Amino acid sequence: MSSEVIRLTSDNTDVIVRCAPDAEILYWGPTLRGFSPQDVIAIQRPVPNGRLDVDTPLTLAMEYGRGQFGAPGIEGHRNGYHAAPIFNTVSVESDDHALTLVSEDALAGLTLTSELRLHPRTGVLQVRHTLKNLSSDAWQLDRLAVTLPVPERADEVMAFHGRWLREFQPHRVPLRHGGYLQESRRGRSSHEYFPAMVVGESGFTEQRGAVWGVHLGWSGNHRLRADVKTDGRRVVQAEALYLPGEMRLAQGESCATPWVYAACGTAGLNSMSQQYHDFLRKEIIRFPDDKARPVHLNTWEGIYFDHDPDYIMQMATQAAELGVERFIIDDGWFRGRDHDQAGLGDWYLDEKKYPQGLMPVIEHVKQLGMEFGIWVEPEMINPDSDLFRAHPDWLLQLPGYSQPTGRYQYVLDLSNPDVFAYLLERLNWLLGEHPIDYVKWDMNRELVQPGHAGKLAVDAQTHQFYRLLDALRERFPQVEFESCASGGGRIDYEVLKRTHRFWTSDNNDALERQAIQRGMSYFFPPEVMGQHIGHYRCHATHRKHTIEFRGLTALFGHMGIELDPVRADDEERAGYKRYVSLHKQLRPLLHSGTTWRVDMPDDTVQVTGVVSRDRSQAVFLMAQLKMPDYTLAGNLRFPGLDPDARYRVRLLDSQQIKTVREGGGSMRELPPWLRHPIDASGDWLMQAGLALPVVVPESALLIELTKI
Ligand code: GLA
Repeated sequence: MSSEVIRLTSDNTDVIVRCAPDAEILYWGPTLRGFSPQDVIAIQRPVPNGRLDVDTPLTLAMEYGRGQFGAPGIEGHRNGYHAAPIFNTVSVESDDHALTLVSEDALAGLTLTSELRLHPRTGVLQVRHTLKNLSSDAWQLDRLAVTLPVPERADEVMAFHGRWLREFQPHRVPLRHGGYLQESRRGRSSHEYFPAMVVGESGFTEQRGAVWGVHLGWSGNHRLRADVKTDGRRVVQAEALYLPGEMRLAQGESCATPWVYAACGTAGLNSMSQQYHDFLRKEIIRFPDDKARPVHLNTWEGIYFDHDPDYIMQMATQAAELGVERFIIDDGWFRGRDHDQAGLGDWYLDEKKYPQGLMPVIEHVKQLGMEFGIWVEPEMINPDSDLFRAHPDWLLQLPGYSQPTGRYQYVLDLSNPDVFAYLLERLNWLLGEHPIDYVKWDMNRELVQPGHAGKLAVDAQTHQFYRLLDALRERFPQVEFESCASGGGRIDYEVLKRTHRFWTSDNNDALERQAIQRGMSYFFPPEVMGQHIGHYRCHATHRKHTIEFRGLTALFGHMGIELDPVRADDEERAGYKRYVSLHKQLRPLLHSGTTWRVDMPDDTVQVTGVVSRDRSQAVFLMAQLKMPDYTLAGNLRFPGLDPDARYRVRLLDSQQIKTVREGGGSMRELPPWLRHPIDASGDWLMQAGLALPVVVPESALLIELTKI
């Protein structure tokens, strides 16, 4: 086979691959204006003195056997044999946007199929490998990773850590010598490490610097790595993390990696996330009938386990008056579920709480013109449940060991066909017997000693979770699902193929939400991000925030209200109504436009905007997180506008802003545009900007720009 060079191309990104005798990505970067396969000679590497006498390519498989000393792309063995395979290309199929390359190691009896797809419009690169065992003895697969080379100038890593109530917190580390590694063995994408990473030119910001992002679309265990070799070359690597013994390939069996989604941008993090958002909108996010995202009222923080159908109907009546479009009964509706220590697994209606069944509530909700939704947590079981009493052996467990409960619950073994059939039957009853439009699917604990038939089985559990959801989606295609796992514990592109919304965090504190939502916005557009107005005194932090700060913080996403509207006072209720209505007015823009995070000189201010595709309309939210660093807030230079157009600029919403004379405390004179709308050219607003007011911490204001 010749050393065929293949070019995959798109509107903003090119990928150049040398396909034989082994396969190596030679370039992943901005679309090239001119390129011919002969050009690759320009980057043919010298062989340095003092080490191996041959060049060591960064192949797709990153084989140890070729003299790669970092983390290989494949690790495993056949009883100790065939443990350093080397793959040579046997077939290549390609067009301008896709490449499928089969390579093999005949000696080891293994074939590797590598699929690369470059999305023609958005430039998002998808990569996946499938390893197949051809020999009669099983091959024990320990690791199978997708490895992508990044340029030497990518010398800083940004990744995300977190915990319950505090998801998506970014951290940065230099990528000079050595590397960066993150692993999750929690059995879900996890609050602790979102399965994604960005590498870029030192000091890259929202609007500046070249960046390369990778996301592993996988809801189970994972490992992500960025490595600098001693020769200075850099790679990023993403994989499902297999526990000991989990992945054994008998003859003819194969294992595929999850899809890795990669995007590179030249103009900072915005240029990367805009590609991801576009890609998701075009390829993954699907709303039944393309329906606008209905505003939620979720009962959880309003009533917790205290379900009284008459009272719930009063809540629904209030919700409808506020403009809510979907009413959701959260945890507490099923047998024995009076608190969080009992009932999980018994998916039968609690007839003590609902003597007339669920239908009167559902009918009431529907008569009010709202959709109806309900909460479930199918993968879980409380020891105090009829299900556990009948089937203690249905747990995901390793026999002979006792495992800790988490939130007083264990996990069911979905690989057990009886468990799977039981859950399918119960969910089928729930969705088949009731006109339910939406399911909030929760998953509130991590997997410890997760065994099926005596062997570790997180990978299998993850596949079975997808299968269960797929079976339900096939039967009930109009039902929407939310992926929730104590808030943001199961968020990734693979689960998004089956769901319509993420519960971003159990923390509804507006200040904390500013950070959490920003973190999530690097990879997800606002319409899949559940954002709720909570109680004025946040249940998670006990901090108090104005209705304006709460309302504006929840405004851009898939909005909701999470409290008891019956017990709220008139002023609060008027606030909910105002923000629900403002959200609905802006929703078409917010859920289709381009998101911009703006670099600000003072990081106590966080500015996020959405500009319509045709750039005729935009809103920007200025959130003052802490005491400003400077006495003046400076100018906001709006990205993404049409420089040739003129815009009307006006304050769309804020808490009352007053001068000292009027009883305020932070300004003697306001910038004129706060008093009345002004007109200015797009270019001026982009280059010179708009003078921001000086506002108090934990407040926000919303600016609207309309083309004139
Ligand atoms: C999790 C969810 C919450 C709520 C509770 C119910 O914590 O994230 O939104 O549904 O469970 O038990």
